[in-house]
Amino acid sequence: MNSQQDNVKRYTVTTALPYANGPIHIGHLAGVYIPADIYVRYLRMRERDVIFIGGSDEHGVPVTIKAREENITPQQLVDRYHNIIKKSFEDFGISFDIYSRTSNAVHHKNAADFFKTLYDKGCFITKTSRQFYDEENKMFLADRYITGECPHCHAADAYGDQCEKCGSSLSPDELINPRSKISGNTPVKKETTHWYLPLNDYEVFLRKWILDGHKNDWKTNVYGQCKSWIEQGLLPRAVTRDLDWGVKVPLPEAEGKVLYVWFDAPIGYISATQELLPERWEEYWKSADTKLVHFIGKDNIVFHCIVFPSMLKAEGSYILPDNVPANEFLNLEGDKISTSRNWAVWLHEYLEEFKDKQDVLRYVLTANAPETKDNDFTWKDFQARNNNELVAILGNFTNRIIVLAHKYFNGEVPSCGELLTIDRETLDEMLQYPSKIADNTERYHFRDALGSVMDLARLGNKYLTDTEPWKLIKTDETRTATVLNVSLQIVAHLAVLCDPFLPFTAAKIRAMLGLDNGLKWKDAEKEILMTNGMKIAQPTLLFEKIEDNIIDEQMLKLSKK
Ligand code: MF3
Ligand code: ZN
Repeated sequence: MNSQQDNVKRYTVTTALPYANGPIHIGHLAGVYIPADIYVRYLRMRERDVIFIGGSDEHGVPVTIKAREENITPQQLVDRYHNIIKKSFEDFGISFDIYSRTSNAVHHKNAADFFKTLYDKGCFITKTSRQFYDEENKMFLADRYITGECPHCHAADAYGDQCEKCGSSLSPDELINPRSKISGNTPVKKETTHWYLPLNDYEVFLRKWILDGHKNDWKTNVYGQCKSWIEQGLLPRAVTRDLDWGVKVPLPEAEGKVLYVWFDAPIGYISATQELLPERWEEYWKSADTKLVHFIGKDNIVFHCIVFPSMLKAEGSYILPDNVPANEFLNLEGDKISTSRNWAVWLHEYLEEFKDKQDVLRYVLTANAPETKDNDFTWKDFQARNNNELVAILGNFTNRIIVLAHKYFNGEVPSCGELLTIDRETLDEMLQYPSKIADNTERYHFRDALGSVMDLARLGNKYLTDTEPWKLIKTDETRTATVLNVSLQIVAHLAVLCDPFLPFTAAKIRAMLGLDNGLKWKDAEKEILMTNGMKIAQPTLLFEKIEDNIIDEQMLKLSKK
């Protein structure tokens, strides 16, 4: 991996563009945005050249259906949710270089041009077929406009593209007793023509690139899904729809048709890069020494590993993703998070209750991230991790040291005397953490990386317990000074190393220690970050205990949903 790293000159990191048809919840953060943000903040601290791309996915049937339900235009709907979502990301410190949107003119032009390039190269086939049509509303019923019984699990309300109950992907024709989502009527069939990307033509390429090329570096869940898709046999996929909301198909004969949302949305990553770096965007998409990484949830794997790469390959001038670290899902109190049942913890609501506790949620969602299997968020676990880990380990250690530095040495870094074995061993162990955390972070093992940050805080607590400076001060001020000096080095290293994970906390610790905000990862590889005489500010509270009644209220709120 490291030899490969050496050739990498820059990174393009993208996060799935959330549909702008509702606010975002803890599942979004845990699965996609927090891991991506950790990765990017880490890369920046390694002084690597990285851009972090996000934005709202504003087309597609979920948007138009919701707008219709609320009696507003799709544009009004996406304006509302784009702003809400963007604010939630800002509030939680998701440090995008740009958070764009697919209703932008730049994107419409870019996506249409991309389609036209493929069209001109003869990459599409057309097919005329009979598709469901709602006569009352005079419209074709694409994707989620049609519902019916799932042929696999027999759930009553499967959609034309997917059954949410069993997760199967479907085509409208497979539904038993199809109905129009708009009128509830039984639809008729009407002839229509669409453009298809023949994925079957990309099978050889995909087998070689994924099955042979990424067997060892892609996550097993991602690799496994790709393998099963490829082995089931790839089929041509329609890239246009009969809808009036979306990017217009740039062909005279395609009046009334738009690009399929899953065709235009991933191109949104490229459009956002063009907006961010109009002169230099191509370096981030077309240079072999750029590493492209897509952070997504598991329901997006096929689009990011099979469809979008085939589009990029068809176009011919783009790089392909180096990795697609998709996560599994986060459940809530043992049950699948669901927008329609309002079974979720919404980010804006969290902040109403837990003001300034962004890092607590970032911590819990990382420590319990669904990296290899679906995981469960419970309020009890949230409370326990806050009280027993953040407060008791990281907060407690930092606070004790700063209080002691004020009590015994006037808030100045005392000088380090002769190092005893315990000091030397502790400092040596401390210096192993930067590479330990880095290795896990580069391999997308963020839970383990965060675990190591906490282990460093545990090391600090153990050192204090073993050396007992509060006893030493009575007999040996020089030795006490050494112990506090060593402890302050550990706190300072924590301030650097926790930054990708807990950026708000890292900033608070740096402010207390009088450390520069621009500290880099390589600074944590040095032993001495706190030099003699440096001034330490009064301690401020990093974390506070969360009492049972607060958790009970959250449980009650959920039970009412
Ligand atoms: N909006 C999609 C979802 O929420 C994700 C789109 S990712 C993109 O599942 F690549 F298409 F942008
Ligand atoms: Zn089903």
